[in-house]
Parts: sequence; structure tokens; C-alpha cells
Amino acid sequence: MSRTIVTFGTFDVFHVGHLRVLERAAALGDRLVVGVSADALNIRKKGRAPVFSRGERLAIVSALRVVDEVFVEESLEAKRDYSVTHGADVLVMGDDWAGKFDEYADVCEVVYLPRTPAISTTAIIEHIADM
Ligand code: CTP
Repeated sequence: MSRTIVTFGTFDVFHVGHLRVLERAAALGDRLVVGVSADALNIRKKGRAPVFSRGERLAIVSALRVVDEVFVEESLEAKRDYSVTHGADVLVMGDDWAGKFDEYADVCEVVYLPRTPAISTTAIIEHIADM
């Protein structure tokens, strides 16, 4: 039986930490579905607008070989609904969210993957701003 993995993120200023988490998520199943945060959600979540628009971030993530499908994540609170709608067998999150989604274990398996060390969108933006 085919196993669907669902994960979420902003994936702004796409970097190797993003690639690695998507590759590792994809390796857990047969089909990877990625919820890409809406611009407004990113502003609420991180206090700033993304550098790349929703459309650009969706285009980059959906072009990856390991990604089968993308959708727009409009609400952080709707992860349960999104997981059910997209047929998740496994919900994958970075371990910066460790423990925060354990309550969804009744609809799917919840897996937290370790982040790639020493890289983040915020650090890249700060580094470029300092150059
Ligand atoms: N991620 C990762 N390793 C990193 C950075 C991100 O595994 N070094 C993962 C996150 O855990 C998440 C996904 O990539 O599952 C999308 O993360 P996102 O928040 O879009 O990226 P960040 O680089 O963490 O962004 P920011 O600095 O704006 O918080």
C-alpha cells in the first residue's frame, strides 16, 4: 500500500537544509505532499514577509524531484485538517517543533526530523544584510 508523507514549511530563500528535510521526508514513504506557508501566515509566524512570494516558493518546491504535490498552508491550526485531506500516513516536521504535534497521532504517525545544523533562512537574510 502506498504511504503518503505530508510536511509543512515556508521554504523561503530555499537552502540545503530545506532540500535535506524534504529528501529525508520523501524517503519515509512513496508520495511527498508539501504545505507551503501563505505570505500572511509567514508574517504571523515569523514577524516578516517572505523574500520570495508564495507563487515563487511553490514553484521552487514543486519542481523538486522528491516532491509529488504542493498546496498552500493558510493556517497553522489547520494541520490536522490538511493532514486528513491530503491522506497523510505520516506527518513530518523539523525537530524545532518536537512534541508540538503529538496530538495528531490519532490521524497519522508524527515524525520529527533533526534540522540540518548551522543554516536557516533567517541566518542567510542576516548574513546578506551584513555584507
Ligand atoms: N529545516 C531543516 N534544517 C534547517 C532549516 C530548516 O531541517 N537548517 C526544516 C524545518 O525544520 C522545516 C522546513 O525545513 O521542517 C522548513 O523550514 P522553514 O521554517 O521554512 O526554514 P528556516 O530556514 O528554519 O526558516 P527561518 O529561518 O525563517 O525560521
